[in-house]
Amino acid sequence: MEKLTYTHNEAAAKVLASFYDTPPLAYVRSYGCQQNVNDGEKIKGVLQDVGFGLCDNVEHADLILFNTCAVREHAEQRVFGNVGALKKLKEQNPRLIIGVCGCMAQQAHIVEKLRQSYPYVDLVFGVDGIDRLPAMLAERISRGKRYLEKPEERNAVVEEMPIRRDSGFRAWLPIMYGCDNFCTYCIVPYVRGRERSREPAAILAEFKELIAQGYKEITLLGQNVNSYGKGLAEKVDFSDLLNLLCTVPGDYQIRFMTSHPKDASRKLIDTIAAQEHLCKHIHLPVQSGSDRLLKEMNRHYTVAQYMDLVDYAREKIPGVTFSSDIIVGFPGETEEDFEATLDLIRKVGYMQLFTFIYSKRTGTPAAKMDDPTTHAEKAARMDRLLKTQDEFAFAATAAMAGQTVRVLVEAAGRTPGTVNGRLDNNLVVEFQAPECLIGQWAQVHLTGSRAALLVGELVRE
Ligand code: SAH
Ligand code: SF4
Ligand code: F3S
Repeated sequence: MEKLTYTHNEAAAKVLASFYDTPPLAYVRSYGCQQNVNDGEKIKGVLQDVGFGLCDNVEHADLILFNTCAVREHAEQRVFGNVGALKKLKEQNPRLIIGVCGCMAQQAHIVEKLRQSYPYVDLVFGVDGIDRLPAMLAERISRGKRYLEKPEERNAVVEEMPIRRDSGFRAWLPIMYGCDNFCTYCIVPYVRGRERSREPAAILAEFKELIAQGYKEITLLGQNVNSYGKGLAEKVDFSDLLNLLCTVPGDYQIRFMTSHPKDASRKLIDTIAAQEHLCKHIHLPVQSGSDRLLKEMNRHYTVAQYMDLVDYAREKIPGVTFSSDIIVGFPGETEEDFEATLDLIRKVGYMQLFTFIYSKRTGTPAAKMDDPTTHAEKAARMDRLLKTQDEFAFAATAAMAGQTVRVLVEAAGRTPGTVNGRLDNNLVVEFQAPECLIGQWAQVHLTGSRAALLVGELVRE
């Protein structure tokens, strides 16, 4: 694996400065997971480093970049739709540069489609191209030709990238890149390449900087944080990393995602129990409650093993809550398999579920499996799943009334005059308070709930 450090590209900055009469503006939109959102923040940082300003209206932009997600077909269709809508802008302003990057751009058939059917897309590069973006832009400008990179794997970690974070109080902190798990439905290992962990020292330095800047919530990112440390010279695992970060003094909380159940250890749960800075909430994607399907999915755990972990966490971490990802309609899913998923959901009692109807991804093993269930049947199963989940979650949310909790105030609420705060367990409470509280901690007395949303009152200290 290559270890690289970002350096400012003076030559590219000069090309850009001489091309634009006034400082150019970039519009950057990220789709998909937090990892991609964090990449989008780095893209913005790199663009600022070579003289771009940022804007949030495509009509004002000199450069439009879509940082894409390939995890489901729907995500890809949205991008093609949004790119298609830019054709007019390009006709009006031929100097406009339109780029597509991220996970979709790692797939040869997508790059080919962009090449052939979207001639107004000028720039295409994959997930490992961000540090080279200034050079690519300079090349596109000086040659006047489209710059479409072939998807390839770089197997590198680039440190010290400039970054322009979207929030001043919540930050994403990647601890590793890529995925080696090859769940049979999933495109991520093909587009994100092999697993690469960052050095603990680099993570710690970024973490300290965030805390010094006043960030209150740090979410550690990786497709499977539980395999953190593999391949590093230093012998370190994810729990060791958590313990290291928790030595940094300050009033902050740490979340992480995603924790793959096959590698979630008792040591990890003991660590969550012991460290005050760690949220007592675990996102533990199960995908299915059928052992047969878990095997077909290549998940490497059984329902019994998963339940052991949940029970152990419940025993060690008082009040711990769980959330999960579920796929409905994996190829060959029977009514019996599906009911096993419903059973599991009832047994665990998740605070939140992220549910997806299976989407066929070209190049993955599941794409070749028989899939006789109709979309209508899958959609009907999804409805039943959501009903089962809502029954539990709405009741569990309502049962929290009466408690006083500490929340991080995140945004304005839907009801005028209110704000939303997030609890340790990831639920959201709406309460009357001025917007100047956004980004601060607040004590809230919970008075009731509306569906999955808690309502409460600010406790004045
Ligand atoms: N690394 C994480 C998941 C990343 S993708 C993990 O292993 O848990 C986020 C979620 O998208 C997955 O958990 C899965 O539920 C869903 N997903 C991935 N591929 C999918 C597909 N082909 N169809 C439907 N959902 C999918
Ligand atoms: Fe996809 Fe599985 Fe890797 Fe998660 S662990 S990103 S679901 S292959
Ligand atoms: Fe999507 Fe890529 Fe993330 S495929 S879910 S943006 S890793």
